[in-house]
Formats: sequence, structure tokens, C-alpha cells
Amino acid sequence: MAYMNMSQTGTGADKTGADDCGASAAAKSFKKLPRPSLLFTPELEAEMAPLYAKLKDVISPQEWRVHAPYIKVINALKVERNAVLLAHNYMTPEIFHGVADFAGDSLALAREAARSDADVIIQAGVHFMAETSKILNPAKMVLIPDQRAGCSLADSITAQDVRNLRKKHPGVPIVTYINTSADVKAECDITCTSANAVQVVEAMADQHDSKEVLLIPDEFLAQNVAKLTDVTVLTWAGHCEVHERFSGPQMRSFRQAEPDMKIIAHPECPPDVLEEADFSGSTSGMINWVQDNQPEKVMLVTECSMSDNIAVENPDVKFIRPCNLCPHMKRITLPAILDALLELKDEVCVEPEIAARARKPIERMINLNN
Ligand code: 13P
Ligand code: SF4
Repeated sequence: MAYMNMSQTGTGADKTGADDCGASAAAKSFKKLPRPSLLFTPELEAEMAPLYAKLKDVISPQEWRVHAPYIKVINALKVERNAVLLAHNYMTPEIFHGVADFAGDSLALAREAARSDADVIIQAGVHFMAETSKILNPAKMVLIPDQRAGCSLADSITAQDVRNLRKKHPGVPIVTYINTSADVKAECDITCTSANAVQVVEAMADQHDSKEVLLIPDEFLAQNVAKLTDVTVLTWAGHCEVHERFSGPQMRSFRQAEPDMKIIAHPECPPDVLEEADFSGSTSGMINWVQDNQPEKVMLVTECSMSDNIAVENPDVKFIRPCNLCPHMKRITLPAILDALLELKDEVCVEPEIAARARKPIERMINLNN
């Protein structure tokens, strides 16, 4: 079972102890820090002016007065705590551009977590991402600024469901999307993300000499992958609550209204959405596509913050913005990040036995891509 440890402070501990959670290891050697001032002074305004010049089209002056002091103190506290902040591409612009040390899609975040030498990893993303970081860094403290940041895909399947699938489909390799709990990963052969799902499915079919592969739990991702491979892809009826709300007819009506617009869509969308799209890829794949192609007008069929984040660096591209918010990602805010750094909460813990089993499918995926 994965579990949360939410009150981690204390003194004098062994930071090198492997496979442990903050209560007994890393947290105990961190000192208590005073709550810093959050005043928007003229000095702070001047110091932060270059960053605001970059963000002014996506953050209003009123919002900036609130965000800027948080950005300043969070960046200072990260140094003091020897912390690294890993941010998913769906974070809001003040997090993505203001305090992230590394931003990327799920695959890039997992790779970065594996490389990290910080004492503390702050995961600005959802719970399964923080669990992945903890599994890859058992001796480090991994914090999620709001432990309620879940995921409808991760909630759609349990470890027992996977055991049942194994019984029902003996010999068929099981690929789990990385959007799952540690318990579920522990039952699977390999993980994948939207950036490498086709490659992983084909590698598993090959290695297991199987014509069929189970790709769980995202039904739409599996259907979209199935169109790109000769492998028979079996799946599960999980959906992303953000991407399942887009539809093919909706895309066609947007296209009628804006005929010269490019549509790029995340593969968690239903297949009829991808049929209307000019490109489909992971969140970072979508960002790279916009950067490389510089379309005059583009619609990103995904979570809302993505357009804001890339608009900052692509001033010549017009973003058409029908998008859906991920309520879980949006729980991560600057005040929550500050509390995480000050109070070392909420710490993400994974039972060592589960972590050891869940590490194998994640490492298998990372090694496959290297
Ligand atoms: P990416 O791996 O493409 O970043 O997707 C993660 C996710 O949760 C999208 O909804
Ligand atoms: Fe999960 Fe969908 Fe939110 Fe991504 S956007 S974290 S898949 S609910």
C-alpha cells in the first residue's frame, strides 16, 4: 500500500538510510524555518521585473503582486533545503516559469527524478508522479504540496484488478500507463507514458513473443496506440476526466469556425478527437511541435495551463483556447509549495516491499528509452 506521511519535522537523523520515509530518515535532519515576509515592496517589484516582462500576457498585474513574493521566497528556500522542484507541464505559469527547476512530461519527470541528487524533491504535479519519484529515490524526501492531487486514471484500477487480468490473460504482458498507483505498478511488467506507449507495447510483444499486450488503465490511449501497431492491444475502461470531455464533433465545429487553425491533441483524448488532429503526442511532444512548427493559429486539446505556458515563449503563435482544467493539478499552488518547503509536508511514502516491486517496471521503461 502507498501511504502519506503528513507531519514530518524533527532533528538528527541518518539521511542515507534507504527505503524509508521522512519520519525515520531524511526529515529528522531538517531544521524548522521561520515563515518569511510576503510583502510586494518596490524593491521586490524591481528585482522581479525581468520575469514579469516574460509573463505579463498570461498573469495580470494584480495577480503578480500576489505571486512575486512567493516566487522570491520559494526560490530562496529551495536553496536552503537543497530541494529540487519538478513541475509537470500542466502547472500554472507562475509555477512553471517562476519556481520550477525542471518542467516536463511524465517521462521526463521520471527520468529527472532518477538523476536527482537533491535532499528533497518537491513534486509539482499529481500523486502518482510523486510516488514515482519516491520509488526511484527511496532515501530522499519527496513532498507533494497537496496530497489530494490525485488522477482519475490512477483511481480507475487496483492491484487486485491487475491480478485478475493476469489470470484472465495468462502469458500476456501487462504494460501500465505511469498514471497508476505504486500498488498497481508492482503487479505489471513495465510502465509507459504517452511519449513512448507504442514503443513499449511493441517491445513487450517482442520480448514475450506475444501477439497481444495489455495496456492499462487508459482505454482511449490503448485504442489510439492500437491504431499505430500490429500488436493486439487489450485494455481497461479507465479514462482521464479532463481529456474524455473532448469529442470529434466538437473538433469539427472548431475547425469550421477557424479553418486555418492546427489542432494538436493529447493521446488520452477519445480516438475520434485524434482523427481530427494534425498532431498527437505527450505534453512535451505537443510543446515541441508548436516550437518547431510555429503555426499561425493552434488549438491544444488538453489541460488549460499548457497554452499559457508555451504562449510565453511563442509570441508569434495565436492560441485558440478551448481547454479543460485538471482539478488535481490545480491543487498545486505557490502557497502550498511554500508550506511544503517550510513544514516538509506532505511527504509521500511507499512501503519498501511495494516500492521494490514497482521500481522494476519503471526502470525497465527508463532503460528501454536510454
Ligand atoms: P504526459 O505524460 O503527456 O505529460 O501526460 C500526463 C498526464 O497526466 C496527462 O493528462
Ligand atoms: Fe490524471 Fe487527466 Fe489530470 Fe492527467 S489530466 S493528471 S490523466 S486526471
